[in-house]
Amino acid sequence: MKITAILLAAGKGTRMRSKLPKVLHPLAGRPLIWHSIQVIKDFTDEKPVVIVGHQSEEIQKVVGDTAQFALQEEQLGTGHAAMQAESLLSGKTDLVLVIPADLPMLTSETLQQLVDTQKSSNGPLTLLTVTTDSPRGFGRILRNESGHVTAIVEEVDATPEQLKINELNVGAYCFKADWLWDNLKKLPLSSKGEYFLTDTIGLASQAGLPVKAILLKNPSEAMGINTRVHLSEAEVMMREQTNHRWMLAGVTMIDPKSIYIDADVTIGQDTVIYPNTHLEGETIIGEDCQIGPNTFIRDTQIGNRCEIFSSVVEFAKLEDDVDIGPFSHLRKGAHLADRVHIGNFGEIKNAYLSPGVKMGHFSYIGDATIGKGVNIGAGTITCNYDGEKKHHTTIEENVFIGSDTMLVAPLKIGKGARTGAGSVVTKDVEENTVVVGAPARAMRKLKKSD
Ligand code: UD1
Ligand code: MG
Repeated sequence: MKITAILLAAGKGTRMRSKLPKVLHPLAGRPLIWHSIQVIKDFTDEKPVVIVGHQSEEIQKVVGDTAQFALQEEQLGTGHAAMQAESLLSGKTDLVLVIPADLPMLTSETLQQLVDTQKSSNGPLTLLTVTTDSPRGFGRILRNESGHVTAIVEEVDATPEQLKINELNVGAYCFKADWLWDNLKKLPLSSKGEYFLTDTIGLASQAGLPVKAILLKNPSEAMGINTRVHLSEAEVMMREQTNHRWMLAGVTMIDPKSIYIDADVTIGQDTVIYPNTHLEGETIIGEDCQIGPNTFIRDTQIGNRCEIFSSVVEFAKLEDDVDIGPFSHLRKGAHLADRVHIGNFGEIKNAYLSPGVKMGHFSYIGDATIGKGVNIGAGTITCNYDGEKKHHTTIEENVFIGSDTMLVAPLKIGKGARTGAGSVVTKDVEENTVVVGAPARAMRKLKKSD
């Protein structure tokens, strides 16, 4: 049986008061709509149809080819929105799951249950309901004496009696596709001048067809995002879930309330995360690492047994047993091989540091290749920029760079060479040679015994 999802995302999202479309606001570091697309992927290979209207181009750009799109030029309601998918899906799917793209807390287990219930039903649709005492503008579920769902009444149209009903419409439904396309055409125009998808329930009931309803076990899944207050509430909830998931998978967290982990991050067993740590984007952390406190890591791969203390690491790669910090900054393209040690106030950009390189104190290494076992003295700078272009520095293995050395690129320092403290190196240095001064000159060749 083919199942395809329709994600409703054409609305204005006025209450967000934002230039950014509502469904592109980030939650756990990913756009709201991304979360819905992820859960859909868990149970169907069919690409969802995203209904776009307001700021459609921005949304299409971000969602890309993870979905197909149908344009709802005028936003005439949720029923009218679903109708826009008919030409793409008619005859191509057996079941249609309709969900608003602003319900990011819905889980794939719940949606699977919705689909499974509809599969075994002889009625045209199954919907999701929630009982709560804070209605947040949701539609009320009407049931008859025998307990069957007969209609949904929107808050604007509800009588005072109906407003007291505490079973609400979550906004997620699974329909038999053919029945849906036929009945969307029969929707009445609502008092709001819109075609409500919720009126399909009344249509089914009037035709004597059974409507199934599943009551959410966890009401927080029904948390819809309409304002930035809702967004912050969802953020807290999702963060708590993410942190629990990682702790149960074997990660220690000292004070999880102060630990911020994006949806895509992965962390190895027995890693310890200290307070005030942010792990963002597509960050991957290995096993037995110590991360934080006060650390910010984005889009970075980290091996096993690494320690990062009070530092900022972005778009970098660390192999095993690397230690960094406090107060260092790794930037785009920093690649640190096994056992590299970066102490305090170090900055590294677009550079490969071979195994065992040591850089203990306030240095800048940019656009460079550093060989095995090199020691970089305090205050060393690769002068990589001449005001117009960036130039590369190569330091071969076992070089000793004296404190406060300026390495004026392009530059190559041969194996086993040494620079004196305070030297300004402007020309390539031969292997096993000592250079000193400003500009640096060769002093002598090193012997094996040196
Ligand atoms: C809707 C339901 C309500 C339910 C609530 C739960 C209807 C009529 N009401 O109300 O019963 O309790 O969701 O979340 O369906 N959209 C479009 N095109 C449109 C209108 C809306 O794509 O023309 C999209 C919106 O972008 C949004 C979703 O549909 O993602 C829901 O629309 P919204 O206006 O927020 O409906 P609610 O008032 O929340
Ligand atoms: Mg809504």
